[in-house]
Amino acid sequence: MQRVPEPEELMDDPMQAQAYAEADFDGPNHLFIDLLECQARKRRLQGCLLDLGCGPADISIALAMRHSELQIDALDGAQAMLDLARGRISAQPRCAERIRLVCDHLPSVGLARHGYDWVVSNSLLHHLPDPAVLWQTLRQCARPGATVLIMDLARPHSQAALDGLVETHASNAPEVLRRDFRNSLHAAYRIDEVADQLNSADLTMLHVAMVSDRHLAVQGQLA
Ligand SMILES: C[S@@+](CC[C@H](N)C(=O)[O-])C[C@H]1O[C@@H](n2cnc3c(N)ncnc32)[C@H](O)[C@@H]1O
Repeated sequence: MQRVPEPEELMDDPMQAQAYAEADFDGPNHLFIDLLECQARKRRLQGCLLDLGCGPADISIALAMRHSELQIDALDGAQAMLDLARGRISAQPRCAERIRLVCDHLPSVGLARHGYDWVVSNSLLHHLPDPAVLWQTLRQCARPGATVLIMDLARPHSQAALDGLVETHASNAPEVLRRDFRNSLHAAYRIDEVADQLNSADLTMLHVAMVSDRHLAVQGQLA
């Protein structure tokens, strides 16, 4: 199936952002946190973490609640998403001071160079018209030895497979979310395309694998 880019790169429409923030992403969010904690193995998650394309910041909040020595910069280019994130963060006094929201559109010139011990992202890659932007950002922002987790949807091989995923995972969702899920699956990169992107970006120390019936993850540590 040919890739079809997302109609809009940023999720800056307040109604779309609200619908996204109200959707139930508990399953993928837990998967993401499990993958990161497995990667950390016995090491504690501490230091500075950058969450690229943080949306309503659910993953940043969950990580900050679980790991009290983590300082998080949560970045998104959509002010509508960051407004929702701000509301959620302020309701969590235990971690509010450790999450800084950054409104920035990648590629960014403002992020600290080589400033982060952890660089993570969920569901951003497929929004980017040029995926190299994510890999360049990673190179610029991560410290040597930083741990990386980039998770996203993977584009199915056929329209029938795509329809099957929408039925399996969004049969009871509002139409706006079913449409967004369909668009996201069409815009997602396949695992072989992501492997090519990593090669081109000279990031072959990272590896990509399927981690669910619809998600791929890029994991590893930078040299
Ligand atoms: C599908 S949401 C994912 C949100 C969150 N990571 C999660 O897992 O729920 C993708 C987010 O990436 C943001 N985004 C897309 N392109 C971006 C760019 N070039 N720079 C910064 N943010 C971007 C969108 O505004 C949106 O909030």
